[in-house]
Amino acid sequence: MGKIISILSLKGGVGKTSTVTALGDALSKFGKKVLLVDGNLSAPNLGLHLNVIDPEKTLHHVLRGEINPKDAVHKLENFDIIPSSLHNKSQVNPLKLKDKLKGLKRKYDLIIIDSPPSLNEESRGVMNAADNIFIVTTPDYPTMSTTLKTAKMIKQRGAPLTGLIINKVYKKNFELSANDIEKTTEIPVMAVLPHDINVPKAQSKFKTHAQHNPKSEVTDEINRLAASLLGKKHKPIKMKRMFRWIKPKRQDINRTIFYESLFE
Ligand SMILES: Nc1ncnc2c1ncn2[C@@H]1O[C@H](COP(=O)(O)OP(=O)(O)O)[C@@H](O)[C@H]1O
Ligand SMILES: [Mg+2]
Repeated sequence: MGKIISILSLKGGVGKTSTVTALGDALSKFGKKVLLVDGNLSAPNLGLHLNVIDPEKTLHHVLRGEINPKDAVHKLENFDIIPSSLHNKSQVNPLKLKDKLKGLKRKYDLIIIDSPPSLNEESRGVMNAADNIFIVTTPDYPTMSTTLKTAKMIKQRGAPLTGLIINKVYKKNFELSANDIEKTTEIPVMAVLPHDINVPKAQSKFKTHAQHNPKSEVTDEINRLAASLLGKKHKPIKMKRMFRWIKPKRQDINRTIFYESLFE
């Protein structure tokens, strides 16, 4: 039975959709069957990241009960995707998402759902469907206030909040550190991704980040996250990264804890 991972943040532009595609790609490279779903129903753009521009069959059709979920699946090179419609004229009920994905959990090892930057039925639908939730944040005060709000919404519902992904890190001392963020939010930091101009560059070519930059720090960190989610050991791609283990980072420790919890 597959697992559903939801990527949430009530703030736009933090890197939710970029994380969905990068993580999907990484999990598929571990040999898993992966489906990405665009749960951002009012302003969908997962398809636009992956060159699925104006799909005929979408999540909107599924939620309206017009087609079976499996018929909205578009096959891409490394993973499959259910896009949403850019011309969503009639209302749908986002809370049906969990139920609609039930059958596909038998076909896929992992289903990753993208979400909208707003507190509404859509984000609730994405949250309710999840087995694991990650909040994407950037390391600055304005975003952190939204991150705390997102975490509160998830915790109030008793949904399975697994961790934080800190994105677009400039590695400057004016930024909040992973330790500060973890202390404030009381949520384990599971990945820290640097700011990398190659992320938008890859997207402009409709490529996943790993296809464009297989050896970048972003790719390496996403691979580490994917490995821990799957209970697999990750081999560092560069010798110097092995020295991380002499003084492990917060996210390395948290990933190890998560990894070990899978075998309890
Ligand atoms: N690690 C990163 N470094 C640099 N730019 C990034 C990074 N992650 C995302 N971006 C860029 O930030 C913008 C917003 O990303 P996106 O994934 O669409 O955010 P969201 O889905 O949260 O609105 C995009 O232009 C994307 O290319
Ligand atoms: Mg997005």
